[in-house]
Amino acid sequence: MENETTEGYEIMTTASIILAAGEGTRMRSKLPKVVHPVAGKPMVWHTLKAVEALVDLPPVLVVGFRAKTVMDEIGDQASYAFQDEQLGTGHAVACARTALEGKADTVLVTFADMPLLRKESVQGMMALHKKGDSPVTMTSYIGEEARGFGRVVRDSAGHVIAIVEQADATPEQLAIREYNLSAYCFDAEWLWEALMRIPISSKGEYYLTDVVSLAVNEGYQVESFMVEDPDEAIGPNNRVHLAAAEKVMRQRINQKWMLEGVTIINPEVTYIEAGVQIGQDTVIYPNTYLRGSTVIGEGCEIGPDTTIIDTLIGNNVKILASVLERAKLADHVTMGPYCHLRKGAVLEEGVHLGNFGEVKDSTLGPDTKMGHFSYIGNAQIGKNVNIGAGTITCNYDGEKKHPTEIGDDVFIGSDTMLVAPVKIGDRSKTGAGAVVTQDVPPDTLVIGVPAKEKRKLEKSD
Ligand code: UD1
Ligand code: CA
Repeated sequence: MENETTEGYEIMTTASIILAAGEGTRMRSKLPKVVHPVAGKPMVWHTLKAVEALVDLPPVLVVGFRAKTVMDEIGDQASYAFQDEQLGTGHAVACARTALEGKADTVLVTFADMPLLRKESVQGMMALHKKGDSPVTMTSYIGEEARGFGRVVRDSAGHVIAIVEQADATPEQLAIREYNLSAYCFDAEWLWEALMRIPISSKGEYYLTDVVSLAVNEGYQVESFMVEDPDEAIGPNNRVHLAAAEKVMRQRINQKWMLEGVTIINPEVTYIEAGVQIGQDTVIYPNTYLRGSTVIGEGCEIGPDTTIIDTLIGNNVKILASVLERAKLADHVTMGPYCHLRKGAVLEEGVHLGNFGEVKDSTLGPDTKMGHFSYIGNAQIGKNVNIGAGTITCNYDGEKKHPTEIGDDVFIGSDTMLVAPVKIGDRSKTGAGAVVTQDVPPDTLVIGVPAKEKRKLEKSD
């Protein structure tokens, strides 16, 4: 691309290509490798995050094997190029040519199976690329575990001369401990042309790695940005590597939250996914899994033994040994042990749930208390209601769900069955063991099976 110039300044456009077309046979999975999650997000999502802020155009994801599955994960956060047949990493990059040629003068290439590569490393490589005059700059690291990676071959002066794939390496080359990480920065025009010159490998693939020796043969001195933390190079090719990546990502996430002011009693057994947010001075006890898009406020105590998925939690909330899914909790809620909040459970300020409570598609109003083993489903419950031990909303007739409405300041006696649809008026009471099949007006005591009005209630009741 011709660089546009305004008053002598070059306008540089940087684009990025992320390779995600491979099957990843070594994973032995029906899913494409790059959608396997690390800390709750697909590997390809992590790689997208490492580059998206560094480039001027939406990253181009090269997809092929089960392309739709990969595209469904990323949606419009990237644009897409297609590689119909997986003929190697060099061929995959060439598939993005039509999307980018003439639009960018610098092109980053990264691999979607390198979820731990940090943005800072990509930035370091870009800075090194700018300094030199080689049309390609690469990244490498020195480590102990080969993981099947390409070896970086240098001459006696220490200059890079080639990347040799493990399968093609001589015994001497196999002993090299500098590995190719697979993040590259290219001058675009040179790249498009060099890709056409990659020879076919013994495996019948076109290796992107071969562009390095092409540049060296043209007389360029190819520089490699050395990534210091070898953990950044954990690119899962099988599920053993996947677990290693998960562990490192989990440590990174936990460390980030601790530095932001969250206490984690034992980070070794605390699992916080990448999409979670946590407020200051919250304490996370062991064996806690915080998943999905969960948001937790300040000053909370969470766990031990708690799983929270896609749930919004206010400030100063205490949750002990419970499971929460797609629920919403306001400030000062206390719950557990052994509660289960399911989809659509909303607990307003100051609600208390004791042991063995289950709530689904229901709202419990401010200061309502439900101390012992109850099931509340499809219910709207007002403020300051006491829900006695063993209360159940009988909301399902075998075909349909029916609603229950309970007003403010109601007292539901122990073991009450609320046979929905049913409404209980403000300040009413049910006797222990009542089976309520008809609406109860305000200020009324009902008892029995089926429940009947016993009397109207006075202010003094
Ligand atoms: C590749 C490098 C190796 C490097 C390692 C580190 C080559 C030839 N080898 O090996 O030097 O040390 O990465 O990460 O580049 N892909 C496609 N289309 C294809 C083939 C692969 O899109 O035709 C994608 C895959 O989805 C994957 C990435 O490219 O995201 C890498 O492919 P993979 O087979 O894992 O390469 P490695 O053997 O790890
Ligand atoms: Ca790989």
